[in-house]
Amino acid sequence: MSIRNAIIPAAGFGTRFLPATRTIPKVMLPVLNQPAIQFSVREAAQAGIERIVFVISRGQEATNDYFQPVPALERALEARGDERLLNEMREISSMVKTGFVYQNEQLGLGHAVLMAKDEIGDEPFAVFLPDDIFYGDSPAIADLIGVFSKYGSSVIAVKQVPDESVPSLGIIDPEPLDGSVSRINGMVEKPRLEDAPSNLAIVGRYVLTPEVFAALEQARPGAIGEIQLTDAIEAVRAEQGAYAYEVTGTHFDVGTPLGMLKASVYAALKREDMSVELKEWLKSTLDA
Ligand code: UTP
Repeated sequence: MSIRNAIIPAAGFGTRFLPATRTIPKVMLPVLNQPAIQFSVREAAQAGIERIVFVISRGQEATNDYFQPVPALERALEARGDERLLNEMREISSMVKTGFVYQNEQLGLGHAVLMAKDEIGDEPFAVFLPDDIFYGDSPAIADLIGVFSKYGSSVIAVKQVPDESVPSLGIIDPEPLDGSVSRINGMVEKPRLEDAPSNLAIVGRYVLTPEVFAALEQARPGAIGEIQLTDAIEAVRAEQGAYAYEVTGTHFDVGTPLGMLKASVYAALKREDMSVELKEWLKSTLDA
C-alpha cells in the first residue's frame, strides 16, 4: 500500500536552541549548509510520498517557502551557467507538493498532528519529526511503509538507547516478530527507568492509521501537560494493534546544538571538498 501524505510538525518553540530560535524556525537551521527539514522532505520524496503538510506557528512560513521555486535565483544561476547549483535548486522545489497549517498554541506534538487532520482526510499517513535525521541506504520511512503494507496497522520507528536516555523518551514494550519488526504491547512516554519496559525508544518516523486523529480529538493532556501523540497511538493500538520497526542507519537528533554540531561534522567529513581540511583542523585542535 502506498502512503501519499505526510505531516511534519514544526511548530514547537525549540527552546533547546534559543536564542537562535527566537525568530528562525528550528527546522531551518542548517546541518552544514542544508536546513534540517530538507532531510525529512527528501526522505519522504524518496519513499514515494507526494504531499507534505507542515504544521507551523505564525511567522514560521519560511519553512514552507523554502520548498517553493525562487525564479530570480534560478535565472541568475542560469545566466552564470551554473548547471549543478541550478539543478540542485530546482530539485528542492520539485521533490513533493507542500502546504502548511498553523498550530496557534503549542499544546504538544499530538495536538500539532491533529491540526493537519482536514488536510489528510481518511487515509493512512506518515509523520516525520524533523529533529531526527538518518543517513542510510534506504530511507527509514520507506522501511516503515513496507511494514505497514504487511500488517495494515500503525508502525513506529524505534532504536535502542542507553539507560540514561530512557526517562526523556517514548519507550515501547516489544514482542519480537521477525528481524527488525516487533508487535507493540504497550508504550509509555518519558517513563522512570525502573518502569520502562525496554530500551527501545520511539524515534521520529511513524506511519499511522486515520483513527489516530479520532484518538487525538479525545485526548487529554498527558505527560508534561501536553497532548501526546504516543498516548493517541496507544489508544488505537488496543483495537488495531501497532508495530515497531528498528531503524538502521546513522541517526542524529538535531534538536539540540550538540546534536546539530555532530550532524554537521559528519556531513562535512563525507564531503570531498571539506574532509581533509576538517580532519587536519580537528586533529590539531584536539592535540593543542
Ligand atoms: P520537541 O519536544 O522537540 O519540542 O517537539 P521543540 O519545541 O521542537 O523543542 P524544545 O524541546 O523546546 O527544545 C518535537 C516536534 O514536535 C513539534 C516540534 O516542532 C518538533 O518538531 N511540536 C512540538 C509542535 O509542532 N507543536 C508543539 O506544540 C510541540
